Amino acid sequence: LNNGLALTPTMGWLHWERFMCNTDCTNDPKNCISEQLYMQMADIMASEGWKELGYDYVCIDDCWLASDRDSQKRLQPDPKRFPSGIKKLADYVHSKGLKLGIYEDVGHKTCAGYPGSLGYYDIDAKTFAEWGIDLLKFDGCNFDNLDQLVKGYIDMSNALNKTGRDIVYACEWPLYTWDGGLQPNYTAVRHYCNSWRNFADIYDSWSSIKSTIDWAADHQEIIVPAAGPGGWNDPDMLVIGNFGLSRNQAVTQMAIWAIMASPLIMSNDLRNIDGYSKSLLQNKYVIAVNQDALGAQGQRISKSNNFDIWKRELSGNSFALVFLNREEIGGPRSIAVILNDLGVDSSCKMSCVVTQILPTYEQWGRKNLTAVLQFTVNPTGSVMLRVEPFSN
Ligand code: GLA
Repeated sequence: LNNGLALTPTMGWLHWERFMCNTDCTNDPKNCISEQLYMQMADIMASEGWKELGYDYVCIDDCWLASDRDSQKRLQPDPKRFPSGIKKLADYVHSKGLKLGIYEDVGHKTCAGYPGSLGYYDIDAKTFAEWGIDLLKFDGCNFDNLDQLVKGYIDMSNALNKTGRDIVYACEWPLYTWDGGLQPNYTAVRHYCNSWRNFADIYDSWSSIKSTIDWAADHQEIIVPAAGPGGWNDPDMLVIGNFGLSRNQAVTQMAIWAIMASPLIMSNDLRNIDGYSKSLLQNKYVIAVNQDALGAQGQRISKSNNFDIWKRELSGNSFALVFLNREEIGGPRSIAVILNDLGVDSSCKMSCVVTQILPTYEQWGRKNLTAVLQFTVNPTGSVMLRVEPFSN
């Protein structure tokens, strides 16, 4: 979407995977969906280095709404859990130098059963703009047919545009189109949305990460050309810092999300996150790959011997590479590659500099196209490299 926003993939935090539809503030006040939760995340994003690295959107997902619209048909938040109202919350988030995202649905109801936007796109866009909202995640549950869904996504895009406020538009249009048995029109999706979900909701598990990665690779001819500054394929949230991934699997999620030019939207508890996960999510070299100005989404370039190799072209004739070890038995496995076989000529035809940026930072030094790189990769883990032309 050519609205001047999301020129690099969106970065931030979203409550869904970790906090879901927890509305029980009586018994679980710390983790329920309430204004407090976003204020606390905003405090931490501003004070613990997240904002400086680019994680600047604090986003509300489903279950923030009251069960009915107000007398003028406007959306309103649950009064018990959001007593100050969304405008006040947006003011608070803005005072921290951050932005506020919110959630609605193209259909009759949200996925969790709260009032949907169907029939109210203009009113809702106006309400969001008046509140000072900076991003809308627009879900696609509870619609009558695919034509209505597609029209709804387009109408909401136009409604947001009409408000004159800068609001990133995060769609799930292709996911629901695929679910309906059709291939989405990605030219249209890119024209109307700043990002779009293609595949199932992410879970806090290695099997979920794997199936998400594999879906993207298996559909890369269709989805990669759609990505670029202003519009991104969204493989869903980073679940690093929760319960389900090992360190190696967390490295793999971070590496592949960076090479896929995915939005980096965490869903975790920043109030209580282990040091390893925090440093991985805050790795400036990996973030630099994700946010590279060229905006070219990477893809899987080979798949053999249970090693998947991914490549992304970066600005300045540079490349990022990821070597993912799919083997789930045994120890670290060795791989040897010749730079010449990886299609990195524009970096290495004179000579290039190779730096390992995951799982740890290591300078591998100056190489040429005939150089053989040999290294080991842990089971379910990844090694990520950056290759750039040598210059003195
Ligand atoms: C759908 C979306 C999720 C989340 C839930 C909320 O499943 O894909 O990301 O927003 O709805 O109910």
